[in-house]
Amino acid sequence: MANPPIQLSLQTDQSTASLTPPVTPIAKENRPNPFQTKPKEKDQPCTTYFTDDLEICRDSNDRQIEFGRGVWSTVYKARSTPSQPFLGTPPSSPVTAAQVLAVKAPLRRDARPVLKAEAATLTRLTHINGHELHIVPYHGFHTELCALVLSAIPLSLATYTEDQAELARKRTGLKTMFEPVQGTEAFKDLAKKLITGLNWLHDTAGVVHGDIKPQNILLRESHGPFPYEPLFIDFSATVEITSDDEPLDTTRASMSSFTPPFTAPEMLASLMCSEMAPTAESDVFSLAATLLAVATGDLLLYSNMNHRLRLEMARAGHQIIDFTRGGMSGCRVPKNGFVERIVKPAVVKDPKMRIATADWVKLVSEV
Ligand SMILES: Nc1ncnc2c1ncn2[C@@H]1O[C@H](COP(=O)(O)OP(=O)(O)O)[C@@H](O)[C@H]1O
Ligand SMILES: [Mg+2]
Repeated sequence: MANPPIQLSLQTDQSTASLTPPVTPIAKENRPNPFQTKPKEKDQPCTTYFTDDLEICRDSNDRQIEFGRGVWSTVYKARSTPSQPFLGTPPSSPVTAAQVLAVKAPLRRDARPVLKAEAATLTRLTHINGHELHIVPYHGFHTELCALVLSAIPLSLATYTEDQAELARKRTGLKTMFEPVQGTEAFKDLAKKLITGLNWLHDTAGVVHGDIKPQNILLRESHGPFPYEPLFIDFSATVEITSDDEPLDTTRASMSSFTPPFTAPEMLASLMCSEMAPTAESDVFSLAATLLAVATGDLLLYSNMNHRLRLEMARAGHQIIDFTRGGMSGCRVPKNGFVERIVKPAVVKDPKMRIATADWVKLVSEV
C-alpha cells in the first residue's frame, strides 16, 4: 500500500490486540456545532440482508480475485445466483445474475462488529434520497460470511490519480505543467462532484464519513468533463452528526486508523489523548487534502519526505498548501489559482472557521 494508515490498535494491550477492536475513545463535544443536525429517527430501518447465493470469482490459478484491501477487510470479486425465497428477511436490493459484485469480508476477527455497524450505516444511507449519486450501491449484509455485498466498481480515485500522474509525466509541456494532472476542466468538475457528495453526507444524510481519502472513493463511469461519478465507500469510521446536547454514539469502533496527510491536524494532535471523534470539519479537511493529492497526482503529497517527516507535516496540516507547493508537483497549485481558492478555506487551522459544505458547494461552482 502506497500510503499505509496508522492503526490506533497501537493503543491496545498487546495480549488482547488480536481479539478486541482497537481502542477508540470518543469525546463529547462541548462546542456549538455549526452544521445542521439531524434528529435521530425513531424508525431506523433494520439492516438489509443479502440472501442470494454468492460465488467468489477465482483466477486461472484458482485463487480468489480481490478488488482491494483496507484496514478491516478484503474486498473480493463475486457473482450471485438467486436462492430460494427466504421469508421474514428484509429483501436486499435486486441484483441480476450477470452483475459483478464486491464482497467486503472481515480481514480479522475483530473486524466483524465494525462491518456489522457499517452494514447498519449503509442500510440507513440507502434509504435516503440522493444516495444513488453519492455512495456505493449496497445490496445487503451476508450473515454467513459476515460481509457487505456491494456493486463492483473497479476504479478507485487513488488508481485513477496515479494513472493521470503517469500520463502527465509523459506529456511534458510548459502550458500543462501549471494545471492539475487531469486538466483544468476535469479537476473542477471532479471537485464539484466530490464537494456536492460531502454536502449530501453532512446535510442530508446527517453523518460524518470519518475516513475520506482517495482510496475510499470509487469512480463509476458517467458524463461530463470529469467522466465519472465519484462514490464514497468505507463507512467503517462513520458517525452521526449529533446535536450538542446529545452524546456521541461511542459503540462504534470509529477512527480506527489515520492516514496522514488526509487526517485533519486536530485529529492527529488528539492521537495521544482521549479526545477524538471525526467531525464534519475534519471531513472537510480530509476532502481538501484529497483534492490536493488529486491535482498534483501525488497520493502521498510530500512523497520525497521520510515517513516521520510526513507525519510531522501532517500535524501542521493547515500549512498543507505551502507544503504541497514546496513538493515535486507544487507548480500544479499556483498561488491564488483555482486549486488554492477551492482548498484554502477548507484547511484553516481552527476547525470552527473551516468552510461548511453548503458554502463550499457555492464556492466550487464559482471558480
Ligand atoms: N464496491 C467495490 N468495488 C470494487 N472495489 C472495492 C469496492 N469496495 C472496496 N473496494 C476496494 O477495496 C478497498 C478496501 O475497501 P474499504 O471499504 O475501504 O475497506 P476498509 O474498511 O478495510 O478500508 C478499497 O480501497 C477499494 O480499492
Ligand atoms: Mg478503506
